[in-house]
Amino acid sequence: MKIIGVSGSPSPNSNTDRAVKAVLESTGMETEFIKLSHYKYEPCRACLKCTSTNVCVIKDDANELVQKVKDADALVVGGFVPYSSLDGRTKSFLERLYCLRHQKGLMRGKPGGIVITSAVPQQEPYPPIAEVGVAAVKAYMNAEGMNVVGDVKIFGTATCAKCGYGNECELSGIKGIFGPDATVEGVGCPRFEDQPETLKAAQELGEKIAQELRKDSDE
Ligand SMILES: Cc1cc2nc3c(=O)[nH]c(=O)nc-3n(C[C@H](O)[C@H](O)[C@H](O)COP(=O)(O)O)c2cc1C
Repeated sequence: MKIIGVSGSPSPNSNTDRAVKAVLESTGMETEFIKLSHYKYEPCRACLKCTSTNVCVIKDDANELVQKVKDADALVVGGFVPYSSLDGRTKSFLERLYCLRHQKGLMRGKPGGIVITSAVPQQEPYPPIAEVGVAAVKAYMNAEGMNVVGDVKIFGTATCAKCGYGNECELSGIKGIFGPDATVEGVGCPRFEDQPETLKAAQELGEKIAQELRKDSDE
């Protein structure tokens, strides 16, 4: 049994990376973590040349990723939500898995986990931005007949808290998200590990994926 976990976050050792790793670790199984920004690949060209072969004709790094996902027994997908939709790297990665679909349904039945980080808190009165990312990954997993096991939503860092102009920039997300009195110092950089419910959700997701895999191998 092998589980692949990918992170579409390009920031080094980011919240998304660490949460995906926490899910993988909690499975207690053989795992591999993949940082998508270390690979160069295009989105799907919709040329449909993969339909009879299940092999993509684009010659780039995605072929290596597709092979790893094909060989894996489960997949954990981590991303974030720039401009309130799933990040481009993660989206393109999912599109490139399209070649595994045709006729054989090579992802069918595989357990899938989802990790999404947003700078907007996941509670009232904020809009449910992370849900948009979860829905996008879930759409891929459902379309391929995967077994969607669960998701983890992380309250992450507003990039304006790190840019150096977050307190004075008129477009700062600090005030945009948290109101006119908010400051970079007050908002800070929320960490996945400091959110006990989120940490627990990641651990439980890993355990559930392992349970599903054990169930599959018993059947
Ligand atoms: C170009 C860009 C646009 C962003 N837009 C949003 C947004 O609309 N909503 C949101 O919640 N976060 C937004 N973010 C913030 C990221 O979701 C946040 O920084 C998240 O913590 C990134 O995850 P990471 O720390 O694991 O890389 C944006 C980030 C970038 C780089």
